[in-house]
Amino acid sequence: MILFEKKGFVGVLTISRPEALNALNSATLDELYARCEEIKNDPELRCLIITGAGKAFVAGADIAEMRGLTKAEGYEFGMRGHRAFSALENLEIPVIAAVNGYALGGGCELALCADIRIASERAKFGQPEVGLGITPGFGGTQRLVRTVNRAVAMGMILTGKVINAEKALEIGLVTKVVPGEQLMDEAMAIANAIAQNAPIAVRNAKKAMRRRYLDALDADLEAEAKLFGDCFETEDQQMAMTAFVEKTEKKPFTGK
Ligand code: CAA
Repeated sequence: MILFEKKGFVGVLTISRPEALNALNSATLDELYARCEEIKNDPELRCLIITGAGKAFVAGADIAEMRGLTKAEGYEFGMRGHRAFSALENLEIPVIAAVNGYALGGGCELALCADIRIASERAKFGQPEVGLGITPGFGGTQRLVRTVNRAVAMGMILTGKVINAEKALEIGLVTKVVPGEQLMDEAMAIANAIAQNAPIAVRNAKKAMRRRYLDALDADLEAEAKLFGDCFETEDQQMAMTAFVEKTEKKPFTGK
């Protein structure tokens, strides 16, 4: 479910579960973690691009898998996501997200783990979790607020509204929007420009720039996992996820 290829000094990691719009289930998260560990130990690599196969970047965490989780299992699922996403984010080499399509929920959160994000004109971003009876659970409550301004992050997470690539550019979530067919060339051009520079200096610059960003992040991610887990076994979570899986109409939320 995770494809990896090397192009010179640049690695390209592709989330590939197109039948489910690359939704992240436990197996995909564990594979992502394992790939990141391999990349970490590859001394030839100088930059990594992450993208998705087909029409989505990643359409979120797997709703079918989450639907029946208990609170404790919800917490574990969140922590499993954190293990994989932090392994990606903590790579010493720069990471570029080439967002080719839907980046919703866990997909937007995955893109947030990258150092630089660029998007196809078709890309869509959002944290729609509150409409599923849960909070963002793979770092969105922490990384989005550290990336765009607080009110913008609050607006995205609390309304659950999806935004297009132009809007993502306007709020600083991505740095460039290009036609879909140019996305990977553009990502490779940025990656190659980085890879031409002195590797130790590039890694140290990334490390230095992330000092403030990383402040208390691990503890905050754990706090997020607890709050995420607490949303499970509620009537609202079960109703909304069942409606998605069974393709039926959602009922009004009751707060139970
Ligand atoms: N989980 C599981 N399956 C998913 C999925 C997800 N997040 N997103 C899409 N799929 C599956 C669909 O069930 C469908 O499967 P079948 O063909 O077997 O029915 C297949 O992928 C194609 O999806 P659609 O038919 O829905 O495609 P579409 O083009 O009509 O709609 C979409 C695309 C708007 C992205 C829609 O699929 C959608 O709304 N997906 C869910 C988005 C979402 O809510 N993401 C957040 C998840 S919660 C989360 O991520 C929590 C966290 O932080 C940890």
